[in-house]
Amino acid sequence: MSLLIRETTEKDFQTIYDVEYRAFNEAAEAELTEKLLKEPTAEALSLLAYEDDLPVGHIVFTKAYIKNFENKISAMVLAPLAIIPSHRGQGIGGELIRAGLKILQKKSVDLVFVLGHIDYYPRHGFQPALAFGLQPPHPIQAGLEDAWMVQALKPLDLNKFAGQVATNIILDQPEYW
Ligand SMILES: CC(C)(COP(=O)(O)OP(=O)(O)OC[C@H]1O[C@@H](n2cnc3c(N)ncnc32)[C@H](O)[C@@H]1OP(=O)(O)O)[C@@H](O)C(=O)NCCC(=O)NCCS
Repeated sequence: MSLLIRETTEKDFQTIYDVEYRAFNEAAEAELTEKLLKEPTAEALSLLAYEDDLPVGHIVFTKAYIKNFENKISAMVLAPLAIIPSHRGQGIGGELIRAGLKILQKKSVDLVFVLGHIDYYPRHGFQPALAFGLQPPHPIQAGLEDAWMVQALKPLDLNKFAGQVATNIILDQPEYW
């Protein structure tokens, strides 16, 4: 078995939709992903993972920014990450996160945000963002505030950039938060 991770093109839209649908067992995330990939201002970084010839996972990062630091800090938000049920627990999610962060680092992205599982993303370098005064675009459900996380891709004093985080227009819908 060998894992291949590559950036996607428009030709992959159907494959991506299928992977997202299978991972979440519903259409909402697949539809969100499609919208993100079709929105030029979201500047998506989209990666598919293949095990042999089978598409098994997908990740997408899209544009975000911190209000008042738009010209100083380049930021992206990770959402969604999807691994098909038959291939979970093999580290593929982690491989996709690492591959994405490596590309973003090369593109001089400073920060990556995620709203996700509190027990999962800290394994991959994320930490709660509110501790640095980085406010989510929309209020997070009470008790789950730590699910709003951040990771710096270069040495930065995060406390200096406290503020309101905003996303691209697709993700900036209250129902996604
Ligand atoms: C969450 C998900 C992306 C993880 O992918 P994966 O390839 O199985 O992850 P990895 O193999 O890198 O890591 C597996 C570990 O993550 C843990 N994990 C998986 N889902 C988790 C969750 N919801 N909360 C906490 N930990 C979780 C597993 O228990 C496993 O732990 P272990 O190593 O101690 O056994 C995958 O389960 C998935 O697609 N789930 C459905 C969609 C989803 O929830 N996406 C994330 C949205 S934020």
